[in-house]
Amino acid sequence: MAQYDVIVIGAGPGGYVAAIRCAQLGLKTACVEGRGTLGGTCLNVGCIPSKALLHASHQLHEAEHNFEKMGLKGAAPKVDWKQMLAYKDDVVAGNTKGIEFLFKKNKVDWIKGWASIPAAGKVQVGDETHEAKNIIVATGSEASSIPGVEIDEKVVVSSTGALELPKVPKKLVVIGAGVIGLELGSVYARLGSEVTVVEFLDQITPGMDAEVQKTFQRMLKKQGLKFVMGAAVQKVDATKTKAKVSYKLRKDDSEATLDADVVLVATGRKPFTDGLGLDALGVETSPRGQIQTDGHWRTNVPGIYAIGDAIDGPMLAHKAEDEGMACAEVIAGKAGHVNYDVIPGVIYTAPEVASVGKTEQQLKEEGRAYKIGKFPFMGNARAKAVFQGEGFVKLLADAETDRVLGCHIIGPSAGDLIHEICVAMEFGASAEDVALTCHAHPTFSEAVREAALACGDGAIHV
Ligand code: FAD
Ligand code: NAI
Repeated sequence: MAQYDVIVIGAGPGGYVAAIRCAQLGLKTACVEGRGTLGGTCLNVGCIPSKALLHASHQLHEAEHNFEKMGLKGAAPKVDWKQMLAYKDDVVAGNTKGIEFLFKKNKVDWIKGWASIPAAGKVQVGDETHEAKNIIVATGSEASSIPGVEIDEKVVVSSTGALELPKVPKKLVVIGAGVIGLELGSVYARLGSEVTVVEFLDQITPGMDAEVQKTFQRMLKKQGLKFVMGAAVQKVDATKTKAKVSYKLRKDDSEATLDADVVLVATGRKPFTDGLGLDALGVETSPRGQIQTDGHWRTNVPGIYAIGDAIDGPMLAHKAEDEGMACAEVIAGKAGHVNYDVIPGVIYTAPEVASVGKTEQQLKEEGRAYKIGKFPFMGNARAKAVFQGEGFVKLLADAETDRVLGCHIIGPSAGDLIHEICVAMEFGASAEDVALTCHAHPTFSEAVREAALACGDGAIHV
């Protein structure tokens, strides 16, 4: 029976990062993973494969729509779907093997198999029981469906099935206009599918800045995605090769159907804690199945911690990673900390959409006086040169103190640009601090500076 300071259950971005940090802090550490490869949802069936397909399909879009304008002539590339999937699988394999290397380098033992916790301090994997002073539950999440819709991963798929369809479907219906629906919907729209997104609410991407929502939906429509908004899906009837999606419009209760070759169910994810034995241990969970923790990732059972998608908060890889590092530090007796007010969110469509901090709607609800600095990418020379002049940067700052409160970007490289504002917010910077920082020309990041200038005496290039 092996004895550890820490056993982490789950090797996703939360778990593997926690394990590495524990080992770096001198704790004898093992990580249990039931999947055949490390990296969790994110590396195997989430962030990484979806970004590979977004990248490949974006190259096709560029070839079809922009190459000729730049004097690059010739037939547009044809899609070899098998090869595209093989490329995606290579990218995944490279990354998951990378985590194996990091485990070896940091002397983290990978215990292969599915774990349960028979008692605090004990982790059971197969016939073996391992002992650990501390256990971190980092078991992540799984796709959740809606009543009347059964996922078979062939015709009615979750994101996992959508990342390995045998062919590009002619007609794809996506249920849910959230992050997964729009990222994978755009992949298939670019590859030639007729994509219809059915969304329960009247806006796409709930919780996002309203102006960004409108602009984003308009741009996606231009790219060929169709939307049925305010529609509650009632059921999906599927055969082996086709499906029919029935929905009811919320405004007048009228009913309609959509035919599809494939239906992608993207209506959210739920914590995955099956088989751990949490109930028997008395670990408290919320009605939504999230493991309850205090501000330091401790559950109510001493010695058991939880992080990532399995607990409250945004289901994002970088949030899980930050919690993994901080939880390791707490176990090692240090002051682990995550600033939940500064966690960026990015949608990796083209253009990208990124946000951090408060939205205008939230500030209104809080009754906080704020000012807005907005700058369109049309005024950014670099964006125009690469046909990405649509979209904008919107910076929100306190009306009195000028402190940056939030930022919402739709445009080129938004997912990278947002981090300048994350750093500014961590340092409690004012919009003027950002405006006074020299930004290289010509870069997309000048648009962020111009938005900051617009919070003061005004932007230059509008
Ligand atoms: P997970 O990554 O889910 O890892 C948990 C691991 O625990 C799994 O490997 C599982 O096999 C293992 N496990 C579970 N139970 C046991 C057990 N009993 N014993 C042993 N092992 C167990 N987030 C972003 O920030 N950016 C993105 O671009 C992004 N894209 C995404 C795209 C898709 C299609 C999906 C589905 C998700 C995406 N996410 C993205 C979300 C991101 O994947 C998750 O937030 C992140 O993976 C959560 O990390 P985690 O460590 O909490 O759990
Ligand atoms: P989501 O919560 O982002 O979106 C779900 C959407 O489905 C919502 O718009 C909701 O209103 C809609 N919906 C719910 N029930 C419905 C119904 N009956 N009919 C029609 N629409 C309905 O969830 P999604 O897209 O499944 O993503 C899950 C998680 O994965 C997210 O929390 C996200 O954080 C993470 N993720 C992050 C990515 C990123 O950071 N780029 C990429 C992909 C996923």
